[in-house]
Amino acid sequence: MTQPLPFEESARYEDVEMIFAAGSTAATEDADQIGADFGEIEEEFGRFLDESLTLRGPDSLGDLLAGADPPVGGIAVDVGCGRGRDAVRLASRFGLQVHGIDPSPINVQQAKDRAAAEGLDHRIDVHLGRAEAIPLPDRSVDVLWCKEVITFTDPIAAMREFRRVLRPGAVGLIYQVLTGPAMTAVEAHWLASQELGFGPARELRPADVEEAIRVAGLEIRQRVDYASEWGEAGQERDGSAGRRLTHAARLLRTPQRYIDRYGAANYRIMLADCLWHVYRMIGKLWGVAFLLRA
Ligand SMILES: C[S@@+](CC[C@H](N)C(=O)[O-])C[C@H]1O[C@@H](n2cnc3c(N)ncnc32)[C@H](O)[C@@H]1O
Repeated sequence: MTQPLPFEESARYEDVEMIFAAGSTAATEDADQIGADFGEIEEEFGRFLDESLTLRGPDSLGDLLAGADPPVGGIAVDVGCGRGRDAVRLASRFGLQVHGIDPSPINVQQAKDRAAAEGLDHRIDVHLGRAEAIPLPDRSVDVLWCKEVITFTDPIAAMREFRRVLRPGAVGLIYQVLTGPAMTAVEAHWLASQELGFGPARELRPADVEEAIRVAGLEIRQRVDYASEWGEAGQERDGSAGRRLTHAARLLRTPQRYIDRYGAANYRIMLADCLWHVYRMIGKLWGVAFLLRA
């Protein structure tokens, strides 16, 4: 059994969903008194909120995988490997033999170049392919890694394919920023319809991913709700989330200034990307990792 990481303070998606589902108490209580009580604690509350919480960044996904003891020398597949950054980490940190799979020929070439530049091309192979049709034999994979890809796939077809290629008992790690508990259907639909350069995206919530995992016959060993954590870590490191918030504000207030210079298509990508970062900070998007067993 994997040891849970120390993230007890993080609420689960379903807990935050309840916060938004619950109505206000103000209708039944004395508004003046509520305001006065809040006034007493407001400043101190703000200072308490200034205190940093324990924050994990993207590297903690590797720690999650480490807890599942991936076999040294085993076969891994990085589905939707992009430019190969994680494939390199899987090969160097865990001594795995990695297959990177991506439908973009540009990404495949860049991932190959990265593997060669890192001196790891003997351990990393990169192929054109999709999550729904992985070019590897049945039961040939010990570790499956799939980060920020599931929303671009047909999730049930992808999970079935994961099940097909994984050896019985093998481990899978899926990380995805999903539609959050504070996101309305209209906002979610708008965001999913924006082309960010990875192909059409789907609006998925944790329950949709869990259902696809279940239908495919895979088992969830652990679910980690990162929620805004990676965004908070970025904000504390270099102010990146606040910068995106300011950019979103400028894009919305003076669109023509940016459209004139960069064109409407680039404007829309930048707006969706900035809002993506803002939404992840406020529960409209929700980072989740699923550690699976085949
Ligand atoms: C947001 S990027 C994530 C890349 C990488 N996994 C990472 O975390 O850096 C999404 C990637 O998914 C790939 N992709 C899009 N549709 C896919 C599909 N159906 N199956 C596999 N990968 C897909 C894109 O080409 C892109 O490389």
